[in-house]
Amino acid sequence: MPLVTSTELLAAAEAGNYGVGAFNAINMESAQAIFKAAEEERAPFILQVTQTTLGYTEPEELVALIKELAKKSTVPMALHLDHGRSFEKVMQFLAMGFTSVMIDGSLTEDGQGPRSWDENVEVTCKVVEAAHAIGVPVEGEFGMLGQIGGDLKGGEGALTDPDLAAKFVETTGIDILAVGVGTTHGLFKGKPYIDHERLKQIDAKVKVPLVMHGGTGVPDEDVRQGITEGIRKINFDTGIRVSFIEAVAGEIHAIEKEWDDADKSGGVRKYDIRRVLKPARAAMVDAVRDRMRVFSSSGKADLGGACSAKADPAKAAERAREAEVAKVLE
Ligand code: G3H
Ligand code: ZN
Repeated sequence: MPLVTSTELLAAAEAGNYGVGAFNAINMESAQAIFKAAEEERAPFILQVTQTTLGYTEPEELVALIKELAKKSTVPMALHLDHGRSFEKVMQFLAMGFTSVMIDGSLTEDGQGPRSWDENVEVTCKVVEAAHAIGVPVEGEFGMLGQIGGDLKGGEGALTDPDLAAKFVETTGIDILAVGVGTTHGLFKGKPYIDHERLKQIDAKVKVPLVMHGGTGVPDEDVRQGITEGIRKINFDTGIRVSFIEAVAGEIHAIEKEWDDADKSGGVRKYDIRRVLKPARAAMVDAVRDRMRVFSSSGKADLGGACSAKADPAKAAERAREAEVAKVLE
């Protein structure tokens, strides 16, 4: 099935009062697991790749695989750049046929510190102009969400000011807004407090779909309530990694025992990569399916509407290249 844009999926979610999961892929198995979960749940979804992921694999390689999976997919999906940090990087992903992009203007390009409001607005407006020229929607963010891991150290996620949120959307023309209402990336230390009052105020002032970043570990009831308060895209990454690593750890434990037995009985140790990756992939399928059910997106793929819209990645990439050339020739 051809790729659709994220805003087509989110418009259908708005009409159907559910949330669309945005799941991060980093390799073949995680991409396959996300597609498999969506097929089994009949759930529209967003497959996203972060800019930093691509320090691990070449973008074109992973995207080629994802596009092959998309060709066979029978549920609508969008291909989204998550946390793009520079105009140039976002252009690369548009040229690869991404049907949705995030410019995370809240962080400096190296992800190690905040950008000022003006710097954020400037880079976000630049991306919006280029992406909209080829019909690709843009997600924006201001006020830093807590970043875990290679970026900012874990900590309190930034809380979004409702008035500033409206001003940011108005000024930049973004289509989707990432909001900070108490979530942070990665695992929470203890139970997170989700500021629903704040979310309702943002939703009342901002007329674009809202994104919950840091979806892992947010209590199901907070996610469901958030969906009734304007959250239409829920990002989920760490939970996929947890399911993968825990499955691998379990398999390695069992394999080590088998090696011991083989050594003791004079047998031969066995080495089969699939022995570890197959259960790990299955664990990721389960983790993603569970989220699709919590988001109430299961079963929504066959409802038609905006989901049946078509976006042709090859055409989008062609338009991106033409737009780039036109810019250079200006
Ligand atoms: O951009 C990706 C998400 O915000 C991931 O958050 O790893 O806490 O699920 P998470
Ligand atoms: Zn995020």
